[in-house]
Amino acid sequence: MQVEANNRKRIFFLGEINVDIIMGGLESLPIVDREISAKTFELTIGSSTAICACAYVSLGGNTSFIGLAGQDEYGDFMVNGMQKFGINTDAVCRTSEVGTGVTVNLNYGTTRTQVTYPGTISEFNREHIDFAVLETADHIHLGGPYLQARFLPDISDVLAFARQHGISTSLDPQWDTTEEWEHLAGWLPQLDYFFPNKDEAVSITGEADPYEACRKLAERTAFPVVKIGREGVICNTPEGITESAGFEVDVVDTTGAGDSFDAGLLYALLEKKMVLKDALRFANGVAARSCTFAGGVNARSSYEDVLKFLGDL
Ligand SMILES: Nc1ncnc2c1ncn2[C@@H]1O[C@H](COP(=O)(O)OP(=O)(O)O)[C@@H](O)[C@H]1O
Ligand SMILES: [Mg+2]
Repeated sequence: MQVEANNRKRIFFLGEINVDIIMGGLESLPIVDREISAKTFELTIGSSTAICACAYVSLGGNTSFIGLAGQDEYGDFMVNGMQKFGINTDAVCRTSEVGTGVTVNLNYGTTRTQVTYPGTISEFNREHIDFAVLETADHIHLGGPYLQARFLPDISDVLAFARQHGISTSLDPQWDTTEEWEHLAGWLPQLDYFFPNKDEAVSITGEADPYEACRKLAERTAFPVVKIGREGVICNTPEGITESAGFEVDVVDTTGAGDSFDAGLLYALLEKKMVLKDALRFANGVAARSCTFAGGVNARSSYEDVLKFLGDL
């Protein structure tokens, strides 16, 4: 394991870079060939992996990002934005061949209609990874693979590289619109942590019950953690299924809740060496707190913020 002067574990986040454009409080659902108004508008850091990295660095973790951004204003927005959070972006590549990815979110009531221009999201691939830099990681986290068309077939090699170099790994699959979950069978045995939500776990295993889905996943991967929204989380240990209840909060926006959970659990286990029960509770706290802020990265929860939220400080 590589350690820096103050002994913090070095975590690399590998994945997609895109901005989120969020139109809130639409006066109606979008209507074909019509213009409608939104009450709010925000341009913010998007992408599962970048949101997770922002949550991790906010907690106090040593965080680096590897990805591809466009040579454009949204690319600057993402790279500068991640740097302002404290993320090391030295290994982020820039391209002028495609634009930085953009997701437009049209929120009406509780519905969320999303339109994505993939751009750099689907162009990122192993050619953009400096493996000499990646080798310095203690842990690698991957998010949102099914949006990353060119990176998808490279992920097995990245996981194999990590194992060869004694680097632990985690992956949040997010949704696969084809529901075929291509390559996943090869990833599962190579991963140290696997972070699907309930719908993803159910679709991957074909088991309607999330507990059963979690058990099935445990036959294929070391440590499946299945997120079940406000109810919290279930995971499988050698002693059987363990649950940790979610927290009751006034939800403003659940964008990035799952990514914040991933960051919280990794921070608790890797950095704070918490026992599993405490780590799951801490991660639920990070995720619940993120639900009380608009957008995926606005909670900026520090370690102390989460302890206060949990009533432990
Ligand atoms: N309504 C909610 N109230 C409190 N916590 C929530 C709520 N929704 C999500 N969470 C927290 O966020 C985590 C991830 O949410 P979930 O919706 O299951 O995943 P994803 O965001 O990946 O779809 C949950 O395990 C829980 O800790
Ligand atoms: Mg998710």
